[in-house]
Amino acid sequence: MSAVDLFGAVPEHVSVYEVSPRDGLQNERATVPLAGKLRLVDALVAAGLKRIEITSFVSPKWIPQLADADDLAEVIQTSRATAHPDVAFTALCPNAKGLERAKAAGMKEVAVFMSASESHNKKNINKTIDETFAAFEETIGPAREAGIRVRGYVSTVWGCPYEGTIEPKAAIAVAVRLHEMGCYQISLGDTIGSGTPRQTRDVIARAFDALPVDTVAMHMHDTRGTALANVVVGLELGVRHFDAAVGGLGGCPYAPGAAGNVATEDLVYMLEGMGVKTGVDLERLVEAARAAESIVGRQLPGKVHRAGIRSLRA
Ligand code: HMG
Ligand code: MG
Repeated sequence: MSAVDLFGAVPEHVSVYEVSPRDGLQNERATVPLAGKLRLVDALVAAGLKRIEITSFVSPKWIPQLADADDLAEVIQTSRATAHPDVAFTALCPNAKGLERAKAAGMKEVAVFMSASESHNKKNINKTIDETFAAFEETIGPAREAGIRVRGYVSTVWGCPYEGTIEPKAAIAVAVRLHEMGCYQISLGDTIGSGTPRQTRDVIARAFDALPVDTVAMHMHDTRGTALANVVVGLELGVRHFDAAVGGLGGCPYAPGAAGNVATEDLVYMLEGMGVKTGVDLERLVEAARAAESIVGRQLPGKVHRAGIRSLRA
């Protein structure tokens, strides 16, 4: 098998799906007040991000940090969404109850989520994989009938904190089923940030054997410093959609203190430096990362917002 060609054809343009208000703030020890969440979303919009996951319609008992989801979503839909019709604001939605809340807030897009591994799925949403698909029968179809687009996540694709390495075949089977159920795009998640490039090649090659190119997104964590290496492999194989969180917000519940989601500014810096357009203004993104630091009151692990973007200005 040939090695990955680091200087081969890369796409001219990719889309960045920003998850910091949801995937980032759900992991903060302290709950960020609604005004802080709005400040973060506004900074992300100002940076030119066009796909932003703002919150979760999950149980507030499970994720108290996002208990203000209904209020936040309503404010976003009645102000920011009308002012920025080109931005897709979205939110996690685990079941029919979540969908009712999303509809009441006027959301136009939601994301369902589940894991490739039984143990993580059970810990995260209290259901087996089969029970989750059954719950999604009451979520994905009805959402689409209501004119709401549905994205899907598969977590623990590269590894599970309870079960170790996951067979790509099993993970991609979950992704295919979500696509068949009506998800327009499936985000494959390296939830614990254990993935390495050869493994990524196997996962993405298998995904592309089963799914159209535009339906596949990568959601990489930088817990062990391998996120961007995995992104390059995905890019080379044809992936066009990447999730990220400004500042690297996110952490990892299984590795306290460790880096979490790949930082949006690091991803955008690398892509733009490779000649791949993202539509994101890097300087304003760095400002958004600094705003995120002030909102959560701690230094964030992203690198570019600390080192600066000088080399791209030459
Ligand atoms: P459950 O306790 O099994 O739910 O939780 P239930 O159906 O038995 O209902 C129990 C109570 O919860 C009931 O209320 C329901 O009404 C209520 P009660 O009668 O006791 O007063 N309930 C809800 N309330 C509000 N919104 C809802 C909802 N559903 C039920 N949607 C449930 C099941 C899925 C709700 C729960 O497990 C949950 O909320 N889990 C969310 C976990 C989560 O958000 N994890 C983080 C996101 S996943 C992630 O981060 C990975 C990802 O980023 C990718 C990656 O990084 O790799 C996507
Ligand atoms: Mg994540």
